Amino acid sequence: MTRVLVVGSGLAGLIAAVRATDAGHQVTLVTKAALPDSNTRWAQGGIAAAMFPDDSVKSHVQDTLRAGAGLCDPVAVHVLCSEGPARVRDLIRFGVDFDRDESGVTRGLEAAHSRSRVLHAGGDATGAAIEAALVATVRERAARSLRGVGARLRVQEHTMLVDLTVQDGRVTGAVLLGPDEALRTILADTVILATGGAGELFPHTTNPALATGDGVAAAWRAGASVADLEFYQFHPTALAVPGTPLVSEAVRGEGAVLRNALGHRFMLDLHPDAELAPRDIVARGIAREMTRQGGEPVRLDATGLGRELLERRFPTITAACRAADLDWAVESIPVAPAAHYWMGGVLTDIWGRTSLPGLFAVGEVARTGAHGANRLASNSLLEAAVFADRAVRALPLPVRVSAGVSVVTGSTTGGLPASVDRDAVQQLMWECAGVLRSGEKLAEASVTLADWATRPTGPDETIAPNMRVRAYEDANLLDLARVTVASALAREESRGAHHRSDYPDGRLELARTVAWTRTVAWNRGTAPDTADGMRSTLNLDHPTEAEEAIAC
Ligand code: SIN
Repeated sequence: MTRVLVVGSGLAGLIAAVRATDAGHQVTLVTKAALPDSNTRWAQGGIAAAMFPDDSVKSHVQDTLRAGAGLCDPVAVHVLCSEGPARVRDLIRFGVDFDRDESGVTRGLEAAHSRSRVLHAGGDATGAAIEAALVATVRERAARSLRGVGARLRVQEHTMLVDLTVQDGRVTGAVLLGPDEALRTILADTVILATGGAGELFPHTTNPALATGDGVAAAWRAGASVADLEFYQFHPTALAVPGTPLVSEAVRGEGAVLRNALGHRFMLDLHPDAELAPRDIVARGIAREMTRQGGEPVRLDATGLGRELLERRFPTITAACRAADLDWAVESIPVAPAAHYWMGGVLTDIWGRTSLPGLFAVGEVARTGAHGANRLASNSLLEAAVFADRAVRALPLPVRVSAGVSVVTGSTTGGLPASVDRDAVQQLMWECAGVLRSGEKLAEASVTLADWATRPTGPDETIAPNMRVRAYEDANLLDLARVTVASALAREESRGAHHRSDYPDGRLELARTVAWTRTVAWNRGTAPDTADGMRSTLNLDHPTEAEEAIAC
């Protein structure tokens, strides 16, 4: 019996669960909120794939490598771009209805793509359409499983990953916090992390509040290698209103322009592609303009696109504007950068395998090397689909499953984490490890974070029962802030999304990924000096092809 525990219910987790179920494994899918709640649901722009006659895998590869600023793993990029079209066709078979016009599936242009190759659904509701189709598929498999007709998939919602369990260097399962607030250990032969990113590290983010990096934090504490954590992508254009909703890059792809408070189109001064320059360049351009104008957001002028196109193509953004009392058909809207996507994460090979046997990571939680220092727009959903599928292909072959096997082994007691002020962590990260960084600020942040980590663990009863999830999330954010700041301090150059004023240029000799592994106890409430607790490693192998995927 191969027991597979999938953690997370965005695109990567749902694909992994369905594929693993169909491949004959016994699958348990756990997710922190309700099944449809995930980062995927909020994705607007779409999914990039070389599927049109005037496009090619080679061109998609080149664009991805260029955006990645010299830090992509070319093998991972090739896998991403060459397997992408097949995975998009899988999504269509799973029921995703990509937008069409009279000439077929429609496609958009986004920053740093040399071709229009971004498929979208519901205009700017691509993630929601993908999530809905895959949730329906998972629910159908789970219902069949309940009826005992073939599939073996169990879904546990409102269940948070607290930690991974490790025995003799192998991941053996996970400690989970269930909806009844009890901690339980679940045993598994393989754990597939699909827990997404950690936009909650920053006060301004396009991510939903559940994006607290639980998988990266748990993997790090368990001793898995992590890499590229210094590369956090800030989306250039979030609507500068409470909640910072995303204003898709596709809006600039359609022709919207950015202006400063004087009405000047400043991106023309910064890059030949102006508003369609790579994301990091646009985000920094905006951040600098905002500094010059006393923190005031810049303006995105989409009035030239016309009301009909704006409302048809971008219904989600139109609704966000309306909710903020803005009519973007007639006025420019205030926008500012916000944390959007983590290029770094748990180090994996091109099969989703991490440095810990028994542990896979897919989707944003993983660092596959496909994004390098700066992800190309609309490559994230693609990466999730491609590498989730590959991870399942690389699972050990299932053996016959006997009926009625339970993977839950009983309850576990564990101390609650030290209390941390999330707002303070976020503010510190924005000021010291945000769009613009300096060695001095990062060093200050490192000291402050180490100090916060030494706060004593409170007795269980000091945390109100309904605040337990929040307490574990906060502790994860503190761990991740510390590792991220240490990684950013260690990279003494500027590259992609990581820009340091004290090292404003790239340094060729540093143009490589550094993977970090915890070397000393780094449990909640202990505080090794940041970098001292980390060992630098990078050991990637690319194993031979696994068997072809099972058709969906
Ligand atoms: C966007 O719609 O601009 C976001 C797409 C992405 O992050 O790839």
